Amino acid sequence: DAAEKGGYEHYMRKEIHEQPRAVRQALSGRIDELAGTVDLDLSLSEEYCRSLDEIQIVACGTSYYAGLYAAGLLEEYADVRVSVHIASEYEFKGNRDPWRTLVVAVTQSGETADTLRALRKAAGSGARTLAVTNTVGSTVTREVDDTVYIRAGPEIGVAASKTFVSQVTTLTLVTVYLGQQRDALSSNERASILEELSAVPSAIQQVLDAEPTVQREAKAFADSESFFFIGRRLGHPVALEGALKLKEISYEHAEGFAGGELKHGPLALVTEDTPVIAVLTDETNASETLHNVKEVESRGAPVIGVTSDDDPNAVFDTTFDVPSIGLMEPVVGNVYLQLFAYHVAKEKGRDIDKPRNLAKSVTVE
Ligand code: G6P
Repeated sequence: DAAEKGGYEHYMRKEIHEQPRAVRQALSGRIDELAGTVDLDLSLSEEYCRSLDEIQIVACGTSYYAGLYAAGLLEEYADVRVSVHIASEYEFKGNRDPWRTLVVAVTQSGETADTLRALRKAAGSGARTLAVTNTVGSTVTREVDDTVYIRAGPEIGVAASKTFVSQVTTLTLVTVYLGQQRDALSSNERASILEELSAVPSAIQQVLDAEPTVQREAKAFADSESFFFIGRRLGHPVALEGALKLKEISYEHAEGFAGGELKHGPLALVTEDTPVIAVLTDETNASETLHNVKEVESRGAPVIGVTSDDDPNAVFDTTFDVPSIGLMEPVVGNVYLQLFAYHVAKEKGRDIDKPRNLAKSVTVE
């Protein structure tokens, strides 16, 4: 066991540190950065991609948040309508032509019962299906028309970590691929997205190198009453994932919100004992989120800013710096939230790799 953890105390910390490599593996051999092209070995014809009317993403847990992140990219860069569904809530309504609907199941394990059930509903109604998974030969891969592997390598920690960034990376490749097939992106635009993607591994490494700062903050805040995470646009799924990670492994109360929703309820819970972690990188409407930061600060809440911009740093109690790499900054910022959750949980002496009541793969509905 100790040897498998490669010197780390927990699989989860090892897997957090494996993220630069996981992203490189997801990209390897699939992109031509200069030409701005992506090859995912899919059977989707150009004609099909062009006629596509809607993408429906179905997933659970962390995979659902990766789906939300991808939806933002697909709408913008592949020019296609996208809806994201919690798999257990999914109903396939064959109102429109099912052949023009692509249903994408995002599932690390490929075995989640709710996700498989949703997929079967869609396939049974005639929709095309695509699996985005980590697990070669898993049930999902045997039931879909196409599979794209995220290539993260085995993830042992029950709470997903590296597979989130691998899912987002892979779904970004799907976005560029569809953008290319649908003529929604020029080759220059595609090349620039691929360049930003290729910058992710070293950006994550810089975040990992800042772990001592995160550990110090986690220690300082570990006994807080609650933790709130806020973010807009691509910062929103990251805020949701940050809160999920913290609750899964530390057993502390944490919630993620869209920045704009704070004033519609959650603000009532904000006190000097509820740290707020705000995502203000590129692609997150940072200037608007800054107003939310001021709102919570005036109620006495300490604020940690996850930011790539030097300017507003002064307003935060603490800043977690994300390298400026554009589009993928929010998912790089998420690595700070993983480390924060890990160190709060460690401070509390929790069973980090096997949190109580949770399973790595939930094969019952
Ligand atoms: C379980 C795991 C989560 C995971 C979710 C979806 O709840 O504990 O970490 O995000 O299942 O799993 P999947 O394998 O479908 O991505």
